[in-house]
Amino acid sequence: MATNNVKGTHDVIATEANAYSMVESVMKSLAELYGYNEVRSPVLEYTEVFSRGVGQSSDVVRKEMYTFDDKGGRSVTLRPEFTAGIMRLVIQNKLYATNELPLKLYYCGPVFRYERPQLGRYRQFNQFGIESIGHDSPYNDVEAIALAYSILQSLGLENVTIKINTLGDEETRNNYRTALRAYFEPHIDNMCEDCKSRFELNPLRILDCKVDEDRPIIDKAPKVSDFLSEASKARFDVVLESLDALGIPFEVDDALVRGLDYYSETVFEFHYQSLKGNNYGAIGAGGHYGKLMKDLGGPDYPGIGFSFGIERIISVLSDDDLLQNVESKLDFYVMPIGDESRQFALGVATILRSAGYKVDMCFDNIKMGNMFKRATNKRAKYAVIIGENEVKDNKVVLKDLEVQTQFEASIEELVDVVDDLFDQDECCCKKEGNEHHEGCCHNQEGEHHHGCCHNKKEGE
Ligand code: HAM
Repeated sequence: MATNNVKGTHDVIATEANAYSMVESVMKSLAELYGYNEVRSPVLEYTEVFSRGVGQSSDVVRKEMYTFDDKGGRSVTLRPEFTAGIMRLVIQNKLYATNELPLKLYYCGPVFRYERPQLGRYRQFNQFGIESIGHDSPYNDVEAIALAYSILQSLGLENVTIKINTLGDEETRNNYRTALRAYFEPHIDNMCEDCKSRFELNPLRILDCKVDEDRPIIDKAPKVSDFLSEASKARFDVVLESLDALGIPFEVDDALVRGLDYYSETVFEFHYQSLKGNNYGAIGAGGHYGKLMKDLGGPDYPGIGFSFGIERIISVLSDDDLLQNVESKLDFYVMPIGDESRQFALGVATILRSAGYKVDMCFDNIKMGNMFKRATNKRAKYAVIIGENEVKDNKVVLKDLEVQTQFEASIEELVDVVDDLFDQDECCCKKEGNEHHEGCCHNQEGEHHHGCCHNKKEGE
């Protein structure tokens, strides 16, 4: 049916939309704390960016890209991931020539993969990620993982498992590929069709196979750890020791190879078991890439980065009840009684909005009781009631919808009065059972202020 959304896409509505904003803003502000700057790359790239960048043997390029010819006959692709497009952006704009290295970039937006939709797996989903480009110290890897970990902690996700492995340098991977070919050769005729082509293109990809019948053979395959060059081993040791020193927990998983072809050295994934027990797959992943920029025609600079899957993060936050404070709320719902009050009420709404408050207003001629219902449904903190008398006397009636107290405020004093109301909401007295106590009002530079503790005994 033409009115349905495309399979594998999803509409983001109400609280979920707020959750996206909250998650993205936590991620952006932490990335900025770590010295990253935002870039926005196009959703559409020439197909070559991904076929050369992500690699011909990856499932993403072989099966999952939304690729089509534009009207000029050029093959273009909706980005199936960010990293290759970010490299194209850096090369084309020569960012490496005009900035200190490493270049530290973050990004956020939709990506497209033609996968089989299932729990935590969409065809259009969103990623937030970072890339640190042009500097090969293993401490860049550590810093990237530390940033990802602190983002997850700031979101309240405490039970994160970080799986980490090294794929080694080129020498390591060449030796490892040779060993894998030798190992799989006698078995490959009995393995799945995908494995057969992976055997030809890149036997490392066989390790990613999800076909149950192939797993017993794959599980006994040689491990990359047995082929690590001295340099790669030493590099990985620095990463693990530094993570330990920062108190970041991890599990070395020598079966972790990642699904994109550009990786070398450190690779990692973030997993999370939600309290409801749902398994959404990795909530984020990344790694080091030695030759990606060079393969795309740029200078020989390595990089390290990761991307989070925003949908998966929101799913685990929701499962763990960590999204309560993102529900839409209003500060004020303005309730004019009768047509004559409406223009005055609009002026009141404007004053409150200019002072930075979230305000909505009733435009219907309905009964007060129904207006209060609307105010409650919109989760307003206060109702602003405006009838004939209020217009005449240039004032409003404010009603606290939680404790049901009401009081008047003149228009001249309105902003001062509501500022006090909201200040006192933040005041610790309220949280401490309204008792004035040592350290109380610390938000007000330690001073007792108008409205402080007013619910208790005024002036205490
Ligand atoms: P990736 O592992 O392909 O890595 O994707 C990163 C994250 O995107 C995954 O961990 C998952 O949370 C989310 N994700 C992937 N596919 C789907 C899907 N179909 N539906 C919902 N979420 C999904 C990359 O994309 C690399 N570019 C990461 C990177 C950055 N490596 C270095 N720099």
